[in-house]
Amino acid sequence: MEYVTLSNGLKMPILGFGVYQVPDLAECERAVSDAIAVGYRLIDTAQAYQNEEAVGAAIKKSGLAREEFFLTTKIWISNAGYEKAKASLDESLRKLQTDYIDLVLIHQPFNDYYGSYRAMEEYYKAGKIKAIGVSNFYPDRLVDLALFAEIPPMVNQVETHVFNQQIEAQKVNSEYGVQLESWGPFAEGKNHFFTNETLVTIGKQYGKSAAQVALRYLVQRGIVAIPKSVHKERMAQNFDVFDFTLSDDDMDRIRQLDQKTSLFIDHHNPETVKFLANY
Ligand SMILES: NC(=O)c1ccc[n+]([C@@H]2O[C@H](COP(=O)([O-])OP(=O)(O)OC[C@H]3O[C@@H](n4cnc5c(N)ncnc54)[C@H](OP(=O)(O)O)[C@@H]3O)[C@@H](O)[C@H]2O)c1
Repeated sequence: MEYVTLSNGLKMPILGFGVYQVPDLAECERAVSDAIAVGYRLIDTAQAYQNEEAVGAAIKKSGLAREEFFLTTKIWISNAGYEKAKASLDESLRKLQTDYIDLVLIHQPFNDYYGSYRAMEEYYKAGKIKAIGVSNFYPDRLVDLALFAEIPPMVNQVETHVFNQQIEAQKVNSEYGVQLESWGPFAEGKNHFFTNETLVTIGKQYGKSAAQVALRYLVQRGIVAIPKSVHKERMAQNFDVFDFTLSDDDMDRIRQLDQKTSLFIDHHNPETVKFLANY
Protein backbone atom coordinates (compact mmCIF):
# COMPACT_ATOMS: atom_id res chain seq x y z
CA MET A 1 0.00 0.00 0.00
CA GLU A 2 1.08 3.54 -0.68
CA TYR A 3 0.11 6.42 1.60
CA VAL A 4 -0.44 10.14 1.37
CA THR A 5 0.43 12.39 4.29
CA LEU A 6 -2.29 14.86 5.29
CA SER A 7 -1.48 18.44 6.30
CA ASN A 8 -1.54 17.45 9.99
CA GLY A 9 0.96 14.62 9.43
CA LEU A 10 -1.59 11.77 9.46
CA LYS A 11 -0.89 8.97 6.99
CA MET A 12 -3.84 7.92 4.82
CA PRO A 13 -3.86 4.89 2.47
CA ILE A 14 -4.08 6.05 -1.15
CA LEU A 15 -6.56 3.26 -1.92
CA GLY A 16 -9.60 2.30 0.11
CA PHE A 17 -13.00 0.68 -0.06
CA GLY A 18 -16.34 2.54 -0.34
CA VAL A 19 -19.71 1.24 0.84
CA TYR A 20 -22.22 3.62 -0.77
CA GLN A 21 -25.38 1.84 -2.00
CA VAL A 22 -24.86 -1.21 0.17
CA PRO A 23 -27.78 -0.55 2.53
CA ASP A 24 -28.39 -4.16 3.58
CA LEU A 25 -26.42 -4.51 6.81
CA ALA A 26 -25.58 -8.20 6.44
CA GLU A 27 -24.44 -7.66 2.85
CA CYS A 28 -22.37 -4.64 3.86
CA GLU A 29 -20.70 -6.49 6.73
CA ARG A 30 -19.88 -9.40 4.41
CA ALA A 31 -18.49 -7.01 1.76
CA VAL A 32 -16.31 -5.13 4.28
CA SER A 33 -15.05 -8.44 5.72
CA ASP A 34 -14.12 -9.56 2.19
CA ALA A 35 -12.43 -6.22 1.55
CA ILE A 36 -10.41 -6.54 4.75
CA ALA A 37 -9.37 -10.09 3.75
CA VAL A 38 -8.24 -8.72 0.37
CA GLY A 39 -6.10 -6.13 2.18
CA TYR A 40 -8.13 -2.89 2.28
CA ARG A 41 -7.67 -0.88 5.47
CA LEU A 42 -9.32 2.41 4.51
CA ILE A 43 -13.11 2.03 4.72
CA ASP A 44 -15.32 4.90 3.56
CA THR A 45 -18.85 5.10 4.93
CA ALA A 46 -21.27 7.92 5.80
CA GLN A 47 -24.21 8.59 8.09
CA ALA A 48 -26.40 8.79 4.97
CA TYR A 49 -25.37 5.30 3.79
CA GLN A 50 -27.06 3.83 6.86
CA ASN A 51 -24.48 1.09 7.20
CA GLU A 52 -21.99 2.41 9.77
CA GLU A 53 -22.89 -0.40 12.18
CA ALA A 54 -22.07 -3.02 9.54
CA VAL A 55 -18.67 -1.42 8.97
CA GLY A 56 -18.04 -1.36 12.73
CA ALA A 57 -19.05 -5.01 13.07
CA ALA A 58 -16.79 -6.17 10.24
CA ILE A 59 -13.82 -4.32 11.72
CA LYS A 60 -14.46 -5.79 15.16
CA LYS A 61 -14.80 -9.29 13.73
CA SER A 62 -11.59 -8.98 11.71
CA GLY A 63 -9.63 -9.37 14.95
CA LEU A 64 -7.16 -6.78 13.67
CA ALA A 65 -6.13 -3.87 15.87
CA ARG A 66 -8.19 -0.70 15.45
CA GLU A 67 -5.01 1.24 14.55
CA GLU A 68 -4.65 -0.93 11.43
CA PHE A 69 -7.66 0.80 9.94
CA PHE A 70 -8.39 4.21 8.51
CA LEU A 71 -12.10 4.82 9.00
CA THR A 72 -13.97 7.62 7.28
CA THR A 73 -17.53 8.79 7.86
CA LYS A 74 -19.45 11.89 6.81
CA ILE A 75 -21.96 14.16 8.51
CA TRP A 76 -25.22 14.34 6.56
CA ILE A 77 -27.16 17.55 5.81
CA SER A 78 -29.95 16.77 8.28
CA ASN A 79 -27.34 16.51 11.07
CA ALA A 80 -25.81 19.89 10.28
CA GLY A 81 -25.23 22.54 12.96
CA TYR A 82 -23.01 22.50 16.05
CA GLU A 83 -25.27 20.60 18.49
CA LYS A 84 -26.82 18.19 15.99
CA ALA A 85 -23.45 17.42 14.45
CA LYS A 86 -21.99 16.57 17.86
CA ALA A 87 -24.92 14.25 18.64
CA SER A 88 -24.50 12.63 15.21
CA LEU A 89 -20.77 12.14 15.79
CA ASP A 90 -21.50 10.37 19.09
CA GLU A 91 -23.94 8.17 17.19
CA SER A 92 -21.37 7.41 14.48
CA LEU A 93 -18.75 6.51 17.11
CA ARG A 94 -21.27 4.17 18.73
CA LYS A 95 -22.31 2.50 15.48
CA LEU A 96 -18.70 2.12 14.33
CA GLN A 97 -17.82 0.63 17.75
CA THR A 98 -14.78 2.83 18.11
CA ASP A 99 -13.28 5.55 20.34
CA TYR A 100 -12.10 7.60 17.38
CA ILE A 101 -12.74 8.10 13.68
CA ASP A 102 -9.74 8.67 11.42
CA LEU A 103 -11.48 11.10 9.07
CA VAL A 104 -14.81 12.91 9.30
CA LEU A 105 -16.09 14.87 6.31
CA ILE A 106 -18.97 17.29 5.86
CA HIS A 107 -20.88 15.33 3.23
CA GLN A 108 -22.43 18.24 1.33
CA PRO A 109 -21.90 22.02 1.31
CA PHE A 110 -25.47 22.72 2.46
CA ASN A 111 -27.27 23.69 5.70
CA ASP A 112 -25.24 24.93 8.68
CA TYR A 113 -21.95 23.30 7.78
CA TYR A 114 -19.92 25.92 9.64
CA GLY A 115 -21.67 24.74 12.83
CA SER A 116 -20.86 21.13 11.92
CA TYR A 117 -17.29 22.08 11.25
CA ARG A 118 -16.91 23.68 14.69
CA ALA A 119 -18.20 20.44 16.24
CA MET A 120 -15.64 18.52 14.19
CA GLU A 121 -12.86 20.87 15.30
CA GLU A 122 -13.86 20.28 18.92
CA TYR A 123 -13.82 16.48 18.49
CA TYR A 124 -10.53 16.75 16.63
CA LYS A 125 -8.94 18.62 19.53
CA ALA A 126 -10.34 15.99 21.92
CA GLY A 127 -8.70 13.20 19.87
CA LYS A 128 -12.02 11.64 18.86
CA ILE A 129 -11.33 12.48 15.21
CA LYS A 130 -7.84 12.26 13.70
CA ALA A 131 -8.47 14.37 10.59
CA ILE A 132 -11.29 16.60 9.33
CA GLY A 133 -12.42 17.63 5.90
CA VAL A 134 -15.23 18.10 3.44
CA SER A 135 -16.89 16.46 0.48
CA ASN A 136 -18.45 17.88 -2.66
CA PHE A 137 -16.94 21.30 -1.99
CA TYR A 138 -16.24 23.04 -5.27
CA PRO A 139 -13.15 25.26 -5.16
CA ASP A 140 -15.09 28.42 -4.16
CA ARG A 141 -16.67 26.77 -1.09
CA LEU A 142 -13.40 25.05 -0.22
CA VAL A 143 -11.40 28.28 -0.25
CA ASP A 144 -14.04 30.05 1.86
CA LEU A 145 -13.85 27.36 4.55
CA ALA A 146 -10.06 27.09 4.36
CA LEU A 147 -9.76 30.85 4.88
CA PHE A 148 -12.14 31.15 7.82
CA ALA A 149 -11.96 27.87 9.74
CA GLU A 150 -9.71 27.66 12.79
CA ILE A 151 -8.39 24.24 11.68
CA PRO A 152 -8.08 24.06 7.89
CA PRO A 153 -9.77 21.11 6.11
CA MET A 154 -7.36 18.28 5.33
CA VAL A 155 -9.32 16.30 2.71
CA ASN A 156 -11.90 17.11 0.03
CA GLN A 157 -13.74 14.11 -1.42
CA VAL A 158 -15.24 14.95 -4.79
CA GLU A 159 -16.40 13.12 -7.91
CA THR A 160 -13.15 12.33 -9.72
CA HIS A 161 -12.63 9.84 -12.55
CA VAL A 162 -11.26 9.81 -16.08
CA PHE A 163 -14.31 11.63 -17.47
CA ASN A 164 -14.29 14.33 -14.77
CA GLN A 165 -10.67 14.67 -13.75
CA GLN A 166 -10.75 17.75 -11.49
CA ILE A 167 -7.38 18.97 -12.76
CA GLU A 168 -8.06 22.61 -11.84
CA ALA A 169 -9.79 21.70 -8.57
CA GLN A 170 -6.80 19.59 -7.55
CA LYS A 171 -4.53 22.62 -8.00
CA VAL A 172 -6.77 24.80 -5.81
CA ASN A 173 -7.07 22.09 -3.14
CA SER A 174 -3.28 21.63 -3.12
CA GLU A 175 -2.74 25.38 -2.71
CA TYR A 176 -4.66 25.12 0.56
CA GLY A 177 -2.96 21.91 1.67
CA VAL A 178 -6.11 19.86 1.03
CA GLN A 179 -5.76 16.24 -0.14
CA LEU A 180 -8.09 15.37 -3.02
CA GLU A 181 -10.03 12.12 -2.63
CA SER A 182 -12.00 10.58 -5.49
CA TRP A 183 -15.54 9.36 -5.11
CA GLY A 184 -16.97 7.35 -7.99
CA PRO A 185 -13.53 6.44 -9.40
CA PHE A 186 -15.34 4.34 -12.04
CA ALA A 187 -18.18 6.84 -12.49
CA GLU A 188 -20.29 3.91 -11.24
CA GLY A 189 -19.80 2.34 -14.70
CA LYS A 190 -21.46 5.24 -16.56
CA ASN A 191 -20.40 6.14 -20.08
CA HIS A 192 -19.30 2.51 -20.79
CA PHE A 193 -16.50 3.03 -18.31
CA PHE A 194 -15.26 -0.55 -18.10
CA THR A 195 -15.05 -1.00 -21.89
CA ASN A 196 -13.57 2.40 -22.68
CA GLU A 197 -11.25 1.84 -25.62
CA THR A 198 -8.41 4.03 -24.33
CA LEU A 199 -8.40 2.39 -20.90
CA VAL A 200 -8.71 -1.14 -22.33
CA THR A 201 -5.95 -0.58 -24.90
CA ILE A 202 -3.57 0.90 -22.34
CA GLY A 203 -4.41 -1.91 -19.91
CA LYS A 204 -3.43 -4.58 -22.47
CA GLN A 205 0.19 -3.38 -22.36
CA TYR A 206 0.36 -4.21 -18.67
CA GLY A 207 -2.10 -7.14 -18.43
CA LYS A 208 -4.51 -4.88 -16.50
CA SER A 209 -8.23 -4.08 -16.80
CA ALA A 210 -9.79 -0.70 -17.56
CA ALA A 211 -10.71 -0.45 -13.86
CA GLN A 212 -7.10 -0.98 -12.81
CA VAL A 213 -5.80 1.57 -15.32
CA ALA A 214 -8.37 4.11 -14.09
CA LEU A 215 -7.34 3.59 -10.46
CA ARG A 216 -3.65 3.67 -11.32
CA TYR A 217 -4.18 6.98 -13.10
CA LEU A 218 -5.61 8.47 -9.88
CA VAL A 219 -2.84 6.98 -7.74
CA GLN A 220 -0.16 8.46 -10.02
CA ARG A 221 -1.86 11.85 -9.68
CA GLY A 222 -1.62 11.50 -5.89
CA ILE A 223 -5.40 11.22 -5.47
CA VAL A 224 -6.90 8.88 -2.86
CA ALA A 225 -9.52 6.54 -4.39
CA ILE A 226 -12.22 4.43 -2.72
CA PRO A 227 -13.71 2.06 -5.32
CA LYS A 228 -16.81 0.10 -4.32
CA SER A 229 -17.64 -3.49 -5.21
CA VAL A 230 -19.65 -6.19 -3.51
CA HIS A 231 -17.73 -8.86 -5.46
CA LYS A 232 -14.57 -10.16 -3.83
CA GLU A 233 -12.76 -10.89 -7.11
CA ARG A 234 -13.37 -7.29 -8.21
CA MET A 235 -12.19 -6.00 -4.82
CA ALA A 236 -8.97 -7.96 -5.38
CA GLN A 237 -8.64 -6.68 -8.94
CA ASN A 238 -9.14 -3.08 -7.80
CA PHE A 239 -6.54 -3.53 -5.07
CA ASP A 240 -3.93 -4.88 -7.48
CA VAL A 241 -2.67 -1.59 -8.92
CA PHE A 242 0.74 -1.17 -7.31
CA ASP A 243 2.84 -3.39 -9.57
CA PHE A 244 2.80 -1.30 -12.74
CA THR A 245 3.35 2.32 -13.73
CA LEU A 246 1.57 4.19 -16.49
CA SER A 247 3.98 5.92 -18.86
CA ASP A 248 3.84 9.68 -19.50
CA ASP A 249 2.30 8.87 -22.87
CA ASP A 250 -0.44 6.75 -21.22
CA MET A 251 -1.11 9.54 -18.72
CA ASP A 252 -1.44 12.05 -21.60
CA ARG A 253 -3.87 9.81 -23.47
CA ILE A 254 -6.04 9.34 -20.40
CA ARG A 255 -5.98 13.10 -19.78
CA GLN A 256 -7.73 13.49 -23.16
CA LEU A 257 -10.80 11.65 -21.80
CA ASP A 258 -11.61 14.53 -19.45
CA GLN A 259 -15.05 16.05 -20.11
CA LYS A 260 -14.58 18.45 -17.19
CA THR A 261 -18.13 18.00 -16.02
CA SER A 262 -20.06 15.80 -13.64
CA LEU A 263 -21.73 12.63 -14.83
CA PHE A 264 -23.97 12.76 -11.76
CA ILE A 265 -24.89 16.03 -10.19
CA ASP A 266 -24.50 19.81 -10.29
CA HIS A 267 -24.14 21.29 -6.81
CA HIS A 268 -24.83 24.77 -8.21
CA ASN A 269 -28.29 23.75 -9.43
CA PRO A 270 -31.08 24.70 -6.96
CA GLU A 271 -32.89 21.44 -7.81
CA THR A 272 -29.85 19.53 -6.52
CA VAL A 273 -30.02 21.39 -3.23
CA LYS A 274 -33.75 20.56 -2.91
CA PHE A 275 -33.16 16.93 -3.84
CA LEU A 276 -30.31 16.42 -1.38
CA ALA A 277 -32.05 18.32 1.41
CA ASN A 278 -34.91 15.81 1.14
CA TYR A 279 -32.67 12.75 0.74
N1 LIG B 1 -19.00 11.92 -0.92
C1 LIG B 1 -19.95 11.61 -1.77
O1 LIG B 1 -20.88 12.40 -2.03
C2 LIG B 1 -19.90 10.28 -2.44
C3 LIG B 1 -20.73 10.01 -3.56
C4 LIG B 1 -20.63 8.76 -4.15
C5 LIG B 1 -19.72 7.83 -3.67
N2 LIG B 1 -18.94 8.11 -2.59
C6 LIG B 1 -17.95 7.12 -2.05
O2 LIG B 1 -17.14 6.65 -3.11
C7 LIG B 1 -17.25 5.22 -3.20
C8 LIG B 1 -17.08 4.75 -4.62
O3 LIG B 1 -18.01 5.36 -5.49
P1 LIG B 1 -19.32 4.63 -6.04
O4 LIG B 1 -19.66 3.50 -5.15
O5 LIG B 1 -20.34 5.67 -6.24
O6 LIG B 1 -18.93 4.11 -7.48
P2 LIG B 1 -17.65 3.44 -8.20
O7 LIG B 1 -16.69 2.93 -7.21
O8 LIG B 1 -17.19 4.41 -9.23
O9 LIG B 1 -18.33 2.24 -8.99
C9 LIG B 1 -18.94 1.18 -8.35
C10 LIG B 1 -19.58 0.30 -9.42
O10 LIG B 1 -18.58 -0.32 -10.23
C11 LIG B 1 -18.72 -1.75 -10.18
N3 LIG B 1 -17.36 -2.30 -10.15
C12 LIG B 1 -16.44 -2.16 -9.14
N4 LIG B 1 -15.26 -2.72 -9.51
C13 LIG B 1 -15.43 -3.21 -10.75
C14 LIG B 1 -14.56 -3.88 -11.65
N5 LIG B 1 -13.29 -4.13 -11.33
N6 LIG B 1 -15.06 -4.26 -12.86
C15 LIG B 1 -16.36 -3.98 -13.20
N7 LIG B 1 -17.23 -3.35 -12.38
C16 LIG B 1 -16.76 -2.96 -11.17
C17 LIG B 1 -19.51 -2.03 -8.92
O11 LIG B 1 -20.29 -3.20 -9.08
P3 LIG B 1 -20.37 -4.38 -7.98
O12 LIG B 1 -20.50 -3.75 -6.62
O13 LIG B 1 -21.59 -5.14 -8.40
O14 LIG B 1 -19.10 -5.16 -8.13
C18 LIG B 1 -20.42 -0.81 -8.84
O15 LIG B 1 -21.54 -0.96 -9.69
C19 LIG B 1 -18.63 4.96 -2.58
O16 LIG B 1 -18.84 3.62 -2.24
C20 LIG B 1 -18.62 5.91 -1.42
O17 LIG B 1 -17.86 5.38 -0.36
C21 LIG B 1 -19.02 9.32 -1.98
